[in-house]
Amino acid sequence: MDSAPGLLFLCCSCICPCFQSRRKDTEDAVLVKESNSLAPASSAEMGSVSGKIAASPLRVPPSPGRFSMSPKLDRIGSVHLTMRQVARATQNFSPSMKLGEGGFGTVYKAQLQDGQMVAIKRASKENSDALRSEFRSEIELLAKIEHRNLVKLLGYVDKGNERLIITEYVPNGTLREHLDGIHGSYLDFSQRLEISIDIAHGLTYLHSYAGKQIIHRDVKSSNILLTERMRAKVADFGFARVGDNEAGKTHVMTKVKGTVGYLDPEYMRTFQLTPKSDVYSFGVLLIEILTGRRPVESRRSPEEKVTVRWAFGKYSDGEAMELVDPQMREAVDPTIFKKMLNLSFQCAAPTRADRPDMQSVGEQLWAIRMKYLQLGREE
Ligand SMILES: *[C@@H]1O[C@H](CO)[C@@H](O)[C@H](O)[C@H]1NC(C)=O
Ligand SMILES: *[C@@H]1O[C@H](CO)[C@@H](O)[C@H](O)[C@H]1NC(C)=O
Repeated sequence: MDSAPGLLFLCCSCICPCFQSRRKDTEDAVLVKESNSLAPASSAEMGSVSGKIAASPLRVPPSPGRFSMSPKLDRIGSVHLTMRQVARATQNFSPSMKLGEGGFGTVYKAQLQDGQMVAIKRASKENSDALRSEFRSEIELLAKIEHRNLVKLLGYVDKGNERLIITEYVPNGTLREHLDGIHGSYLDFSQRLEISIDIAHGLTYLHSYAGKQIIHRDVKSSNILLTERMRAKVADFGFARVGDNEAGKTHVMTKVKGTVGYLDPEYMRTFQLTPKSDVYSFGVLLIEILTGRRPVESRRSPEEKVTVRWAFGKYSDGEAMELVDPQMREAVDPTIFKKMLNLSFQCAAPTRADRPDMQSVGEQLWAIRMKYLQLGREE
């Protein structure tokens, strides 16, 4: 356990040329690694290492009815816009409407004529062609899923060299922004617990979707959006793909994609993708939620740079309570806090066989929540 995150970090440093900084924060770099060569991050074509298993998410049999995936289909969901309407709704992609950077481009807030707020993600022009498969992937997947902890697709535009995805607007920024306190206050413990449960529920739904597993592949705090009531929704399905849980197949071979610090070390080593890679990322994210620290804190001393390793060391030395995010004002119950840490380390186990599945994670968090509420009543 102890050495694995270090290995991961080392490994990440070697493939540094592939980093593509997507956010203001350079620690939040996106990693794209090919099995046999180091590809530039813009080469986002979904590749397959094993010729036996087709890598394209498009191989999912089309689902019936209105979600049938004919290439001509450009009417998913309820919002249908022309480019002119999109330009008006985003004030011509005004920087003042910009919400952030997503998997393949910039996300804007937009107001439709009926007053409804939506989010519109626009593929960056230079990446437009290279990222076409990611665009298709995101649409195909989003079109089929509906869950209160997953951002909902409302429509899309695929015309000329413009590719836009229209989703519901989630008003309260990202989880990372709230951990940084940039919305004016910090999350308290019970909010953090509820948010963790929401994310676990969203991922459980993805992983068990209609007998096919959908693997998100980029679970991280800047991809978790918060509602006005501080409930969480998982966003940005640009890297998502469909796993293969047919009899006898336990994984798909694929290029490694994801974000440094959250990437499953076993996936990086073997290129075998399973839902357990999301479980690993969730474990890293849970530690981030509890400590407030980013997965990689490059400005800290060597022993504190990789948060999972630092946290595991403290936890093992009986100093778990030193891990509590100093921004949490209230007293955090040590038993509850340690239970959550224990769960996060199980999720971030170096070997996927040692990680629980997402459903079990949700159930364990739910049990922790029961205990937490009981304690509150006893006081
Ligand atoms: C966002 O969350 C804060 C708490 O940090 C809350 O006070 C505020 O009302 C929320 N804002 C919106 C737009 O929902
Ligand atoms: C978590 O708790 C279980 C049972 O309470 C224990 O067996 C396990 O060793 C713990 N894991 C860690 C990483 O401490």
